[in-house]
Amino acid sequence: MATVKILGIAGSLRKGSFNRMALKAAQDLVPAGASLEIAELPDLPGFNQDNEKIPPAAVTELKAKIRAADAILLVTPEYNYSVPGVFKNAIDWVSRPYGDSAWKGKPVAIMGASAGVLGTARAQYHLRQTLVFLDMPTVNQPEVMIGGAASKFDQAGNLTDDMAKKLIGQLLTNLSDLAKRNGAGSR
Ligand SMILES: Cc1cc2nc3c(=O)[nH]c(=O)nc-3n(C[C@H](O)[C@H](O)[C@H](O)COP(=O)(O)O)c2cc1C
Repeated sequence: MATVKILGIAGSLRKGSFNRMALKAAQDLVPAGASLEIAELPDLPGFNQDNEKIPPAAVTELKAKIRAADAILLVTPEYNYSVPGVFKNAIDWVSRPYGDSAWKGKPVAIMGASAGVLGTARAQYHLRQTLVFLDMPTVNQPEVMIGGAASKFDQAGNLTDDMAKKLIGQLLTNLSDLAKRNGAGSR
């Protein structure tokens, strides 16, 4: 029986997304006593604060899933050295209205896959900054940056890089431990 429920979200809408493949690979790497459910990134309208109290149904559903989870795994692509707009947009929707953010206090870990050799390093540091404002306890290490993503997955979408698998397993162990320190399993 899993005591730590992790919810994973990959920040790409693309059918053949390497980041979604990495998130799927993570499901086989969770430590004992934890589970990893995947929430698809919703294709949302651009956030408009005028409408924050009447969000799309997909935002309400995503907020409920986040609230039901003990911990969050965010898997970010890198667009122009930053977090893709669609991912940041979803993060913004979930953070509002003020005082009703579903992110607040949730333990979180981040990872990412990109075409470039730095493997989303720059995007991850932008995301990490956002998580400070969202008040989410964040796993610092290991950093999981899957560069040259096209050569790290096979035709069926399986992660083939042993070092990446090892690091993802360690990241999930550290996230699970952080969630337990935050009360997961004792509620
Ligand atoms: C608008 C755009 C900007 C991009 N900028 C970067 C970048 O800054 N660094 C990088 O490594 N790859 C960049 N890429 C390539 C992405 O890493 C690549 O498209 C990757 O597959 C996206 O993630 P996904 O497979 O999960 O959709 C960019 C791609 C797009 C479409």
